[in-house]
Amino acid sequence: MKAKKTVIAFGDMRLGVDSDRSRRTPTVRKPKGAMVPVDRFKPPVGRARVETGASAVADLGNPTAVQPTMAEREALDRIDLSVDLAPDRGLLLANPILVASGTFGYGVEYGEVVDVQRIGAICCKGTTLRPRAGNQPPRVTETPGGMLNSIGLQNPGVDAVIEKYGPIWQGWKVPVIVNVAGESIEDYVEVARRLDGVPGVAGIELNISCPNVGKGGLQFAIDRDAARAVTAAVRRATELPLLVKLSPNVADVRPIAKAIEEAGADAITAINTLSGLAVSPDRTRAFLGNTYGGLSGPAVKPVALRIVYEVAQVVSIPIVAIGGVTNLDDVLDFLACGAVAVQVGTAIFADPELPVRLGDELRAECLRRGLDSYRPLIGTALPQRTGPASAKGAEYRP
Ligand SMILES: Cc1cc2nc3c(=O)[nH]c(=O)nc-3n(C[C@H](O)[C@H](O)[C@H](O)COP(=O)(O)O)c2cc1C
Repeated sequence: MKAKKTVIAFGDMRLGVDSDRSRRTPTVRKPKGAMVPVDRFKPPVGRARVETGASAVADLGNPTAVQPTMAEREALDRIDLSVDLAPDRGLLLANPILVASGTFGYGVEYGEVVDVQRIGAICCKGTTLRPRAGNQPPRVTETPGGMLNSIGLQNPGVDAVIEKYGPIWQGWKVPVIVNVAGESIEDYVEVARRLDGVPGVAGIELNISCPNVGKGGLQFAIDRDAARAVTAAVRRATELPLLVKLSPNVADVRPIAKAIEEAGADAITAINTLSGLAVSPDRTRAFLGNTYGGLSGPAVKPVALRIVYEVAQVVSIPIVAIGGVTNLDDVLDFLACGAVAVQVGTAIFADPELPVRLGDELRAECLRRGLDSYRPLIGTALPQRTGPASAKGAEYRP
């Protein structure tokens, strides 16, 4: 996948160099254009179009298409794309297309190019208790069908995130979910405590793919008991809607997903990146400064689909799918495998408007199918259940 030349900075790239930032009065940059209503039917120049048929509605992505009629607009507006990701606590999204952590900064960076208020929700960059400078460069490299990254959770720390972005998020219609990372249960709990009750923070997404110092570096995400323990501890620390993000780097994700559900998570997000490696051009070392990187982009979609498909058969809480989404077909595939919502990640680097456009395209697809909601599209590819959910779900292994 070719990355676009435009460079979008995520937060402050000098983080960690200037470590007392959290004590400074932040300069709040108002996200320009974010509150300006955008015409949903404005042609997104040069983008893939929705393959839906003859009507003007079906040509949402076609710059030369006839504009939809008033009746079509009204019919589109009646379609219900809303979804509650935390039915017990309330995390109501206007539509099921979110942006993935680490690929959309804190939302403000995109204010000039995207109407961020039309995104279902924003998962911000991974946030830790203390500021982190991130890993040694190089930190990213392109791969066939995707990219490898080893950013290393560069972020200003939870207090600075709250101080700098909380007041901005508070004025936003789009819910912001703070992605939380840590090296110990105490880290996660403390970050969750500080976020609890902060206006503008709609929920927490736990990134549990971090080394657990208490377990000698083993990730929380690859150990059922560790995943259960960190989820339960955060659950006790906050009333905020709690999403927990699965790692694909395990032999069988289902026991981990079940443990997370039992520990009180409101929803599961799946998946984080796959562990990978690139070699330096002269082949004398690993290319990335951190040796390993996380693979993302279209290359990981089949893995993400398989995991969503498996997890959907063993848990009852909502599943938010992530992994290689680049077009409406990807969204429909994840919904068919049991996801109720979808995050867009790597594809944003090449096409920042994609998440907003996918919401429009999903709406048009519902209209084309004569649906008044997207809900009938969920779970259609899952095996029919005749009784209660099986403990293991359908096996994919030969
Ligand atoms: C540059 C980059 C940074 C990321 N940072 C985070 C992060 O801080 N926390 C997290 O949970 N996931 C992070 N991710 C993973 C994404 O949120 C997502 O799970 C993954 O990239 C798969 O989705 P995609 O194929 O659509 O990119 C990052 C991904 C990329 C490419």
